[in-house]
Amino acid sequence: MTARLLDGREIARQVQEELKERIARLSGRGIVPGLGVVLVGDNPASRSYVNAKEKACAALGLRSFAKHLPAAASREEVLDTVRRFNDDDEVDGILVQLPLPDATMEQAVLETVGPDKDVDGFHPVNVGRMLLGLPAFWPCTPHGIVQLLLRSGYDPAGAHVVIVGRSHIVGRPLANLLTRKGRGGDATVTICHTRTADLARHTRQADILVAAAGRPGTVTAEMVREGAVVIDVGVNRVPDPSRPSGHRLVGDVDFDAVRERAAAITPVPGGVGPMTIAMLLRNTVEAAERRRGGAGR
Ligand code: GUN
Repeated sequence: MTARLLDGREIARQVQEELKERIARLSGRGIVPGLGVVLVGDNPASRSYVNAKEKACAALGLRSFAKHLPAAASREEVLDTVRRFNDDDEVDGILVQLPLPDATMEQAVLETVGPDKDVDGFHPVNVGRMLLGLPAFWPCTPHGIVQLLLRSGYDPAGAHVVIVGRSHIVGRPLANLLTRKGRGGDATVTICHTRTADLARHTRQADILVAAAGRPGTVTAEMVREGAVVIDVGVNRVPDPSRPSGHRLVGDVDFDAVRERAAAITPVPGGVGPMTIAMLLRNTVEAAERRRGGAGR
């Protein structure tokens, strides 16, 4: 079996197309949704994600306001930047690109983002509201994965989904969304992590296998059941002297070998990444509708 490729770029384009009507309605009322972006330091991967998010905003006619701080920025400087975005009426959504150079300030920074502008869905209020099934901003990568599955014809309802990785950004919130009652949920979920004994025993049970460990080669062909759907969340830079950039991107999955066993698989790049951006845009439009009232959806 050679797996069907799940084209995240195409599905992200559909999601963005659907946003155009909502953006036009806001525009008719003189409102242009705005995203405040905070980038601290010069991590090349973070820079490239932020660029992609800003480009995507521009392509849909959303505004983005970037604030780039040096890696040595103090906790107060970072918090102040976030507070200014909280107070800025032109800014509907705020994104602080992670990881921060100083990980010890991360939680304080995320908790300073106003929950109504928290389009990444990382504030404890949104995490708690999501867990309780209340209206909330859902984190972009997990929400993007749910949309990618549904729109590709792989409804997770009743499926056994095995997630490798327990991060707050992907693994844990994805498990929560997939176990909700209702569309895009109703799955049975196993979360595996670095202390899981006999990882392959679990991954081989998966109807849908999600690799979100942040390590190349985490999922090899023997770990995949014939006919499974494989979602690769990893974005790892590996050295490649044959490329002008000196590196290339690979996921967490041994793509070529797993492709011969799976029914469907997401490529890296061009799988989950574009979906994350599409859901960020959707949350930003939603934030503008909510904040400025009279969404009329
Ligand atoms: N770093 C890795 N994924 C994400 C994300 O979804 N949002 C932000 N802000 N930073 C990230």
